[in-house]
Amino acid sequence: MHYSIAQLAALAVTPLLVSAAPSIEARQAQKITVDVTKKYQTIDGFGFSAAFQRANLIVNLQEPKQTELLNLLFNTTSGAGFSIVRNGIGSSKDSSRDYMNTILPTCPSTPDGTPNYVWDGKDSGQLFLSQKAVSYGVKTFYANAWSAPGCMKTNGNDVNGGNLCGVSGTNCRSGDWKQAYANYLVKYVQLYAESGVKVTHLGFLNEPDYSTSYASMQSSGTQAADFIKVLRPTLDKNNLTDVGINCCDATGWSVASQHASQIASAGAENMLYAITSHEYTSRISGVMRTTRRVWETEYADLNGGWSTAWYQSGGAGDGFTWANTVFNGIVNSNLSAYIFWEGVQDRATNNNNNEKLILVDGQTYQVSKRLWAFAQFRVVRPGAVRVGTSGGSNLKSSAFVNTDGSIAVVMINSGTGTQTVGVSGLTVANPTVKAWYTDNTHDMTETTVTVGSDGTASASVPGRGMISFLITSPANATLV
Ligand SMILES: *[C@@H]1O[C@H](CO)[C@@H](O)[C@H](O)[C@H]1NC(C)=O
Ligand SMILES: *[C@@H]1O[C@H](CO)[C@@H](O)[C@H](O)[C@H]1NC(C)=O
Ligand SMILES: *[C@@H]1O[C@H](CO)[C@@H](O)[C@H](O)[C@H]1NC(C)=O
Ligand SMILES: *[C@@H]1O[C@H](CO)[C@@H](O)[C@H](O)[C@H]1NC(C)=O
Repeated sequence: MHYSIAQLAALAVTPLLVSAAPSIEARQAQKITVDVTKKYQTIDGFGFSAAFQRANLIVNLQEPKQTELLNLLFNTTSGAGFSIVRNGIGSSKDSSRDYMNTILPTCPSTPDGTPNYVWDGKDSGQLFLSQKAVSYGVKTFYANAWSAPGCMKTNGNDVNGGNLCGVSGTNCRSGDWKQAYANYLVKYVQLYAESGVKVTHLGFLNEPDYSTSYASMQSSGTQAADFIKVLRPTLDKNNLTDVGINCCDATGWSVASQHASQIASAGAENMLYAITSHEYTSRISGVMRTTRRVWETEYADLNGGWSTAWYQSGGAGDGFTWANTVFNGIVNSNLSAYIFWEGVQDRATNNNNNEKLILVDGQTYQVSKRLWAFAQFRVVRPGAVRVGTSGGSNLKSSAFVNTDGSIAVVMINSGTGTQTVGVSGLTVANPTVKAWYTDNTHDMTETTVTVGSDGTASASVPGRGMISFLITSPANATLV
C-alpha cells in the first residue's frame, strides 16, 4: 500500500488491538504482500557528510579503531552500508574551526583571469574518507559547495550570505563570475578524479535561504537557474556529462519546493539531476512537484544531548524516530536518497548534541542507534526500484527490487508488542531469505526466517522494532 500522510497519521494513533487471549494464529495474521508490478521511484542511496573538518576525526583515529569505524559506516554486511558521501567544497581561506579551505584562496583580478588553484591533497580529510568509501564500493559522491569563494560574491566574503556576482539582481564592479565559479567547480571534480574518486553529483549552494557566520551564499531558484545554465555546458565541455547537478539544499521542504518551481519556470529543470532539501525549517511532506529526482541531503536533531537510545519516549534523536523519518521520506515523499548530517563528530562541538551518528572522542567512539536505523536500509542498494506493498496493521512496510533481482523489504513495527510478520508476493524462485532487526538491545541482528510452502517468508519483530528482509535467488546471492 502506498500510504498517504493522513493514513499514516491514523495508523500512528491507532491503539494496538489486543484480544483477550491472543492466539498464535492471530499473531501470525500480520501479512504483507509485495507487488513488484507497482513501481515507484529509483533509489540512489543513503548517506552522510563529514564536512566541517569532521572527516579528520576519522583520519586521526589509530588502528584498529579506524577500520572498525569505517566498517560501521560503509560495510554492507556488518555496518550501515552507506552508499552516498556528501562532501563540502570549501570556500574559506583556512581550515580553522568549521571552515573548509578552498582550492582558490585568491581570485584573479578579473573573472576571465587565470586562476591559481591550490590543492592540498586533503580537502579537510574528505579525500581520505572518500578514497576509503571507494574501497568499500561506494560509487556516489555528492560534492556540495556551501558558497563560492568570497572574491566572486557581492559581499566579498564566503561567509554571511551575499550572492554570486553575475546572477540576476546583482551588479558587481568586478564583473560576472558565473563562468569562473563553474570552472572552479569543474576543477574540484577533476582533482578528485585524479585522486581516484569520481564525483557523481555536484551542488553549488547550501541553505541559500539562510545567511550565517560560516560559508553561506544566498540564492533564489531563479538565480540558481542563471548559474545552472552556465554550469551544465561547462561540465559537458569538460567531458563531465555524467556529473549530475543537484540544487539547492534549502533549509526545508517549502523553500526547496519554491526552488523547484522557480528553476522549472526559468527553463533549467532538465539540466538538473535532483532537487535537494534539508528538513530543518520545514519537514518533508507530500510529493514535490518536479520531473527530477528528489533527495533529502541534510538533517539531524540539533538540540538533544548525545543519545544512543533506540526508543526513549520518541525523542528527536532516537533511532526509532530516525527509522520513521527516513521511511517517511522514501515511502511517502518519493525520495531517491536520504542523507544524514554528520557521520562523526567530537564531544566538544555543539555541546555534544545528536547531529552525528557516531561520537568520536579522541581515540574512542560511541555508536548511536540512528546509525542502526540507517543500517536497516542497507538491503536497499543504489539503483533499486521501490515497489508496492499492502497489508499489515501497526506495521509500516516498504519493498524494493535491487538491480541484481533481489527483493528488499523494510518494515517498522509501530506497535509496542512483538509481531510475527509474513511477507508474500515474492517473485524470486527458490529464494534464500535473510532478515535482520534492530531494537533497544539489537543492532541489525540476524534473525530466523521460515519460508512456508506458499513461499511466505516469516520472522518476528519486537515492539517498536525494525526488520529488513532480503530475498535473493541462488544465482544472485551476492548481497547476502
Ligand atoms: C565487512 O565486514 C565483514 C564482517 O566483519 C568482513 O568480513 C568484511 O571483510 C568487511 N568488508 C570490507 C570491505 O571490509
Ligand atoms: C573529451 O573527450 C574527447 C574524446 O575522448 C577528447 O577528444 C577531448 O579532448 C576531451 N576534452 C576534454 C576537455 O577533456
Ligand atoms: C517520483 O520520482 C520520480 C523520479 O525519481 C518521478 O519520475 C515520479 O514521477 C515521481 N512520482 C510522483 C508520484 O511524483
Ligand atoms: C539475477 O539478476 C539478473 C539481473 O536482474 C536477472 O537478469 C537474472 O534473471 C537473475 N537470476 C536469477 C536466477 O534470478
